[in-house]
Amino acid sequence: MNPINYLIVQSVKILPKSIIYLFAKKYIAGTDLDAGVRVTKKLNSNGIVATMDLLGETVKKKEDAIQAKNDFIKLLKTIEREKLDSNISTKPTALGLLIDKNLCYDLYVEIVECAKKYNNFVRIDMEDSSVTDDIFELYEKLFEQYSNVGIVVQSYMRRNIDDVKRLNAKGANYRVCKGIYIEPKEIAYKNKNEVREKFLEALELMFNNGNYVGIATHDNILVKGSYDLISKKNIPNNKFEFQMLYGVKEKLRDKIKDDGYKMRIYVPYGDQWYAYSVRRLQENPQLAWYILKSIIPFN
Ligand code: FDA
Repeated sequence: MNPINYLIVQSVKILPKSIIYLFAKKYIAGTDLDAGVRVTKKLNSNGIVATMDLLGETVKKKEDAIQAKNDFIKLLKTIEREKLDSNISTKPTALGLLIDKNLCYDLYVEIVECAKKYNNFVRIDMEDSSVTDDIFELYEKLFEQYSNVGIVVQSYMRRNIDDVKRLNAKGANYRVCKGIYIEPKEIAYKNKNEVREKFLEALELMFNNGNYVGIATHDNILVKGSYDLISKKNIPNNKFEFQMLYGVKEKLRDKIKDDGYKMRIYVPYGDQWYAYSVRRLQENPQLAWYILKSIIPFN
């Protein structure tokens, strides 16, 4: 990020939460489960499926991790009861990864078991590089017992192609994305085009292997690159889906759906919306700039 954008983003972080919420609400369904259900129903009625995410991360207390597990189980029951076409996305650090790896595994087992009962699916989101190995370890241990669990790979990570090859050998269900956390250049590519090239390289390896892939991007170049790979390799529609974030590039979302591809929208909700929203703003300094301009009289 250039120094001016960096300053803009840092300034946004000191604004009151109530102001940030005014802008963040475009990207979150709302602060409670009912809001998540409303948004998901609307998407479903437009032929779009969802992955619902109860916001929260970096939990430090065991009781909070257990509460998050209970909330995810409530979410799975609600999806079943309301007949939503949605799976769930989860963050291991919301489920105790930073407290105790075994606790986290045990909580995931309860969630994945519940999802299995309802014929549903649990995505494990990938977080920052301090927990990458722990998240892969968690996933691989769960995947030995359960097929209804998937992982995420980040194409900005220099290690990513090796990770994809390892996951390919196991038959994983994965989502490929660029990666959203701010990582040092020693471990992550910084050049936009390099991250794109690595995304498509990973996607090609995944297609070659024949596992199910979630192609998570709003980048026109990557959508076009994915379309090209799909047609060049004659990949059947039941081997992939496109995924986008709630509130981002809805025209592109509808175009991909109208082109006949499955589209899944990531629907975040919950009162822990702040960290998620700040990350979205960090990615989008233009938006952060609008917020600052609307609040601070610069001239
Ligand atoms: P890029 O950032 O270049 O965006 C392309 C265009 O889309 C931008 O020019 C802008 O117009 C628009 N856009 C993108 N993001 C926007 C935003 N927040 N607000 C407004 N406009 C925006 N990351 C991670 O590290 N771990 C994970 O588990 C996940 N999970 C995940 C799930 C899903 C469904 C998606 C779509 C993304 C993720 N990500 C993620 C985030 C991902 O790594 C990446 O940071 C974003 O998708 C942005 O990258 P793009 O490929 O969209 O390109």
